[in-house]
Parts: sequence; structure tokens; C-alpha cells
Amino acid sequence: MDSALIEGRNIGKVYGTATGPLVALTDVSFTIAEGEFVSLVGPSGCGKSTLLSILGGLEERTEGSLEMADEDLVRPRTDIGMMFQTSVLFPWRTVRQNVRLPGIILRLDPKEQARRCDELIEMVGLDGFGDRYPNELSGGMRQRVALARLLAHGPRVLLMDEPFGALDEFTREAMNVELLRIWERTGKTVVFVTHNIGESVFLSDRVFVMTPRPGRLAGIVEIDLPRPRTTEIMRDPRYAEIVFEIRRMLGVDH
Ligand SMILES: Nc1ncnc2c1ncn2[C@@H]1O[C@H](COP(=O)(O)OP(=O)(O)OP(=O)(O)O)[C@@H](O)[C@H]1O
Ligand SMILES: [Mg+2]
Repeated sequence: MDSALIEGRNIGKVYGTATGPLVALTDVSFTIAEGEFVSLVGPSGCGKSTLLSILGGLEERTEGSLEMADEDLVRPRTDIGMMFQTSVLFPWRTVRQNVRLPGIILRLDPKEQARRCDELIEMVGLDGFGDRYPNELSGGMRQRVALARLLAHGPRVLLMDEPFGALDEFTREAMNVELLRIWERTGKTVVFVTHNIGESVFLSDRVFVMTPRPGRLAGIVEIDLPRPRTTEIMRDPRYAEIVFEIRRMLGVDH
């Protein structure tokens, strides 16, 4: 593989809780190449969000090392963007004003940002909705706004924590196709957390499979399905084979 953009070695995380220490992650090591699409899958409570927060510099690791572009990753960086399960939009700001927010906070060129935000609103399929407020949108549309906002300041790495987990299956599938299209166009590096094995296989170059708590890497699965992908790929026998390989690693077959 090409030289790594992100490299984690023996990452561990212990939370201090009222009832004593809680081991959330143990000995997690990996590399992620620039432009790669990686998913984290594993059962609830295995430490996926914890690992993503550590990658985002929001949570401290208690063991191991983590570097991005050969720099210690210990605090949030503007070239890393995060997106969560709920869109956390500001209800008093329109779609356009929500998407413009990161650029305002980072004091980016307002003219360039205005142009870029309009482009992004179109790119996520919300053309004509720029002046609407979040409460006038469906859940799927709100996540589209959050996706446009995530891309607004041009981060190099996108960390996505079950971004489409609250959406119905049809909308989620449509969002996944959209996300792949955007990823293919922009060459971002993506780390995507999901419970959904099929979704992880559909999207990713590699899937990091985690064990139940304390989370470790049970293994890393290469997704050797051709790109560009459409939902047609789900008919491919190789798709089913990989899904079952991951299910076996997770121990979910009965
Ligand atoms: N701030 C915190 N303080 C103490 N314990 C925490 C904290 N955040 C998470 N944990 C614990 O760490 C473990 C991993 O949590 P985490 O949220 O990373 O899991 P997850 O894999 O994202 O789960 P889910 O799929 O349900 O979102 C859990 O046992 C959780 O209770
Ligand atoms: Mg989580």
C-alpha cells in the first residue's frame, strides 16, 4: 500500500467511570492511505465511536500512538471533518446558512465560500432548498445538509459516525450511492462507522471488523469489488461472500 496518511499503533482507551475503569479499546493498530474508504463495523458498545473520536482528536487515547501526515494526532484539526447520526443543524439558520457556518468560523474567503456552498447544496441534491429551514426538511434531506456542511471547508479526511443510521433503508441506500459518487469525485479519505455489514461492504475499500468490548480489531477485510459501484453490485456473488466472511468474523451466524 501507498504511504499511510493515518497510522495508529496499539491504541488503547480506558474511560474512568464512577464504578471504576472501563476498557473501551485495546491494542488497535492500522494504517489508512490517502483517498481510502474504510469502514468500522462491530457490535454496539465495541468502541467504534470512541475510535472515531480519537481519530478526530476529540477524545484522548490512553495508550499507543496515532499520527496523521506524520504529526501526532491529539487535538481536532481543520483538515478533519466529522459527521454524526443526527444532523445537528441550527434550526434558526437556513440550509445555506448552515452550510456556510464552518467557512465563517474558519474565516475563509466569503465570496469563494458562497460559491462553494451553492455548489455543494446542488451536489447533495438540495438545489432550490438553500433558503429553507431545517424543520421544513425530511430526515434524509437534513443529513444531506450535514453532508454538504461537512464538505464546505474542504477537509481532507471525513469521519462519519453512522451518518445514515437513523434513515429508512431506501433513503440510506440513496445516500450511500450519493456518498460514493462524491467520494469518487473528491478523493477524500473516509472513515465510516456502521452496524450495517452490507453497507460497509458496498462502500469500502477495506472494512475494519471489531470485537465486542473491549474493542480490538478482529481483522481487516479487503473489499475487492470493482468500482464505480451501484446497488447492482449487491447481486454479485462476491458481495454475498464478503458479507458472510464479515458475519463469520463477528460471530453473528447461528
Ligand atoms: N465518555 C464516556 N465515559 C465512559 N464510558 C464511555 C464513554 N463513552 C463511551 N463509553 C463506553 O465505552 C464503550 C464503547 O463505547 P462507544 O460509544 O465507543 O461504542 P460504539 O461501538 O460506538 O457503540 P454503538 O454502536 O452503540 O454506537 C461502551 O462500553 C461505553 O459505555
Ligand atoms: Mg457509536
